[in-house]
Amino acid sequence: MTDTSPADTWQLSDTEVFSKYGDAFVPRRAEQTAAVCDLLSGIPVRHVLDLCCGEGRLSEEYLRRDPQARVTVLDRSPEMLALTAKRLEPFADRHDSIEADIEDRRWRTGVGYGGVMTSLAVHHLDGEGKRLLYRDIHAMLAPGGVFVMADLVEPAGATARTLAGDHWEEAVRRASEEQFGGDEAAVAFERTEWNHYRLPGPDPVDKPSSVAEHLDWLREAGFVEVDVVWMYAGHALFTAKRKAN
Ligand SMILES: C[S@@+](CC[C@H](N)C(=O)[O-])C[C@H]1O[C@@H](n2cnc3c(N)ncnc32)[C@H](O)[C@@H]1O
Repeated sequence: MTDTSPADTWQLSDTEVFSKYGDAFVPRRAEQTAAVCDLLSGIPVRHVLDLCCGEGRLSEEYLRRDPQARVTVLDRSPEMLALTAKRLEPFADRHDSIEADIEDRRWRTGVGYGGVMTSLAVHHLDGEGKRLLYRDIHAMLAPGGVFVMADLVEPAGATARTLAGDHWEEAVRRASEEQFGGDEAAVAFERTEWNHYRLPGPDPVDKPSSVAEHLDWLREAGFVEVDVVWMYAGHALFTAKRKAN
């Protein structure tokens, strides 16, 4: 997941690669998507922000499950927002979009979302950026609202890091066989150096934090019921709730 411009985080070439191979590159993607939506069941306002929506996979599943729900999708990439708009066409007027950078604080205003979900994006922020984001998301949620995040995490030690890299590589190799009938996706995964755990780091683009740091920052932001509910190949799924009044 690297690119040539160190000043930037996500490039058009990443969009093209991810659109083509995302189902193979994201370990157990369908399982993760289902778990994110499961964690949003019962939110107090059925309006969810999909932060760095990509092609809108999470939003599609969330809207499919609940005919009364709406989503706001946010991404910096107009290409990704266009792909999301196409994917969400069957849901007519139940979605709107914001073109913005995740780091920009102007979109972080008090909408009162029932939920905020995000997948594979928050690791582009540094530690301080994540802390601030969690505080702002907490303030944007309605009382009882839920934040759900799937993302890469940084293992706490070298052995666990190697294992995360091994598991990720194995998962992509299996998915490549299943989805492409051969090693096409596995070769692309290696060629693009997508496996963060194979790179020495630190990396200017991908800056995952440890599970412990995320949990601390979420609690510090005021969230309750902060938890990791799923983890595999360095990918973790967090949930956190804003206290009901
Ligand atoms: C790996 S994709 C994940 C997309 C989607 N959430 C999913 O899981 O399928 C990362 C997404 O984050 C977006 N992105 C990367 N850096 C961003 C930034 N600084 N601000 C807003 N969006 C960003 C990219 O355009 C891309 O759509």
